[in-house]
Amino acid sequence: MIDKRHVNNRGGTQAWLTGSRSWIVLFALGCLLKYAIGIAGAATVASAPNPNQPAAALQVVHWWTSAGERKAVDVLASKLAEENIQWRDAAIPGGAGLGASKVLKSMVLAGKAPEATQLNGIVFGEWADLGLLLELDDVATPGGWQKLLFPTVWSLVHNRGHVVAAPLGIHRINNLFYNKKIFDRLGLTAPKTWAEFERVAEKLKHAGVTPLAQSSEAWQVATLFETLVLAESGPAYYRSLFVDLNPGAFGDTRMTHALQRLRTLKAWMAQPVRERPWPEMTRQLADGDAAMFVMGDWAKGELLAWGLTTDQEFSCVAVPGTADYHLYSVDTLAMFAGDYSHQTAQEKLAQLIMSQPVQSAYNQAKGAISVWRSPALSKMDSCARSSWSAFSKGSAFQAPSLVHRMAADETAKDAIVAEVHRYFVDDKMSESDIQRRLVSIARSLSKTGKQE
Ligand code: GAL
Repeated sequence: MIDKRHVNNRGGTQAWLTGSRSWIVLFALGCLLKYAIGIAGAATVASAPNPNQPAAALQVVHWWTSAGERKAVDVLASKLAEENIQWRDAAIPGGAGLGASKVLKSMVLAGKAPEATQLNGIVFGEWADLGLLLELDDVATPGGWQKLLFPTVWSLVHNRGHVVAAPLGIHRINNLFYNKKIFDRLGLTAPKTWAEFERVAEKLKHAGVTPLAQSSEAWQVATLFETLVLAESGPAYYRSLFVDLNPGAFGDTRMTHALQRLRTLKAWMAQPVRERPWPEMTRQLADGDAAMFVMGDWAKGELLAWGLTTDQEFSCVAVPGTADYHLYSVDTLAMFAGDYSHQTAQEKLAQLIMSQPVQSAYNQAKGAISVWRSPALSKMDSCARSSWSAFSKGSAFQAPSLVHRMAADETAKDAIVAEVHRYFVDDKMSESDIQRRLVSIARSLSKTGKQE
């Protein structure tokens, strides 16, 4: 096995020169010093992993704490246990990983990086540039990952020619879940257009059922909003907003329409819209307190974990206007290199994650689809199959989730999410007000400068 200590820092210098986040620079200084001391101290100790070593343990930071998420984690932990490796759980509650990403930064700054972490999105390129992540090429190359993976996933886990994360599954976000029993009882069919949605919502309201479940938690509002942006005008415009941060796109009338749609939908939610964790909103759908719910398919994992069955108690369709598209979030685990003493166990975890049985069992529990481009379709329910077909159409039909870190860095994401949330809770704020603010955020953060 190659000792990667000396090759793992490639690109680090460039990140130092170009990186805009001061915490990264500070933390890099601290860590490099610490690693330098650690490496010097360990130099005399044999570092080659011993295949007969006793049981290893890996601490894993993640934010999977709901019933469905726990079931998915259990798949990973039990497979790892079969290899005599303990999964030491460090679960930080908080939907979309808001708490977990803060805790992770603090752990790394304190020199206590976990061996593995859920590190979704483009952010792991930054961590990899600092030389902190274990390169997984020794697993990915013989495992044929490039051929197995969807090209979008392959490029996501790839940084400067090296694989720096193990991909778990692909979530679709543009789902409209509905309570099938209520729909059947009222003779309703799932809406495919916004006009149909309005008609269905009206009937539900008339029957005394809240048409749409929704929390006012910022990331949940913004998750709904990014879906509406996609519905309004497709992946190309979506990317010009959230990937390119093109200021002109934020001032566009398509943005105005997506914002207006958000207000229209608000009228179909229980008033006042309260701030609740997403599993509680999923519970409202399951219990029939609300009839529809727009959410990532981790909500399906939750419904299944509670014993409900797809197409019996609940079902799903794409949000109106998005049937051809896939708004995605890919869950990945990255490994911290540290002093390389856990490398064998970390590589084993990466290998397991990409194995067919784990891909299948994990994603069934999680509500997601496999990252393999040719998964076992027979084991998928109708929601998963429709997610797989949309994602398989290729990148022109895919939209990377802003809220779930697939499109832009944390700074841009947080700034946009905060503005959308403000617009959602304050009915007096006009579309032109928020658009002006978004244009100026995009101007200051855009990679392409003043592009309009
Ligand atoms: C996403 C993540 C999912 C799920 C969800 C809700 O960011 O990809 O795995 O955990 O947040 O917290």
